[in-house]
Amino acid sequence: MSLYQEILVLYYSSNGATRELADAAARGVASTPGVQPRVRTVPPVAAAGEQRSVPDDPSLPPYVARVDLDKTMGLLLGSPTRFGNMAAPLKYFIDSLIDVWLSGTLTGKPAGVFTSTGSLHGGQETTLISMMLPLLHHGMVLTGLPYSQFPALNTTQSGGTPYGPTHVAGPSGDREVDDTEADLAFGLGQHVANLALRLSN
Ligand SMILES: Cc1cc2nc3c(=O)[nH]c(=O)nc-3n(C[C@H](O)[C@H](O)[C@H](O)COP(=O)(O)O)c2cc1C
Repeated sequence: MSLYQEILVLYYSSNGATRELADAAARGVASTPGVQPRVRTVPPVAAAGEQRSVPDDPSLPPYVARVDLDKTMGLLLGSPTRFGNMAAPLKYFIDSLIDVWLSGTLTGKPAGVFTSTGSLHGGQETTLISMMLPLLHHGMVLTGLPYSQFPALNTTQSGGTPYGPTHVAGPSGDREVDDTEADLAFGLGQHVANLALRLSN
C-alpha cells in the first residue's frame, strides 16, 4: 500500500495551457505533507465518420482508469473552455461514470476545477460551473478559491476566479500561464489536499 494518500489531478488539454495549470495544481498537492498527486488525462474523442488519432506523446500522463477514482481522496478537474463549456473528451469520460456514481466512490470527497480560455470574458466561470455540476451529482464537496486565502483574486489582470483557477491564452492560444495564474492553481492544489486530509480525519 502507498505511504501517501493521493489526490487525482485529471485534465484534458489540446494545446497545453490546461496542462500547465494541472501541473501547477499537482505541485500544490505535492507541497502538502502526506499527500501526493496522481496526474491523469483523457483521450480525444471523434464524431462518427471523423478520423482522430490518439497523440503519441510520451510526456503525456497515462489515461485515467477506474482505479484512479477508487484510490483518490479528492479531485482536481481541468478542461479548456469550449464554447463556454468543458471540452467533449472530458465530458465523454464523465458520462462513462455510471458505476462510480452508483457505488458512491466520490461521495464526500473534496473537488476543485480549473480552466483556460482564449479570451478574458470567454466563459471561464460557466466552464468551471459546467465541471462542478456532475461532481455535485457524485456527492463531491466542491471548493473554489477563498478571497481570504488568495488576495491575488482582487488584483489579477489575467486569470483567477473564486470559482477556481483560470488562464487566458489569448486569441492565438499562445499566452503562457503567468505567475498569478500558476500561483492560484498551485493554491487550489494545496487547498483541496488540506481539505481531503481534514475530511478523512
Ligand atoms: C472548439 C473551440 C471552442 C472554444 N471556445 C472558447 C470559448 O468559448 N471561449 C474562449 O474564450 N475560448 C474558447 N476557445 C479557446 C480555448 O479555450 C483556449 O485556446 C484554451 O487555452 C485551450 O486550452 P488548451 O491549451 O489546454 O487546449 C475555444 C477553442 C476551441 C478549439
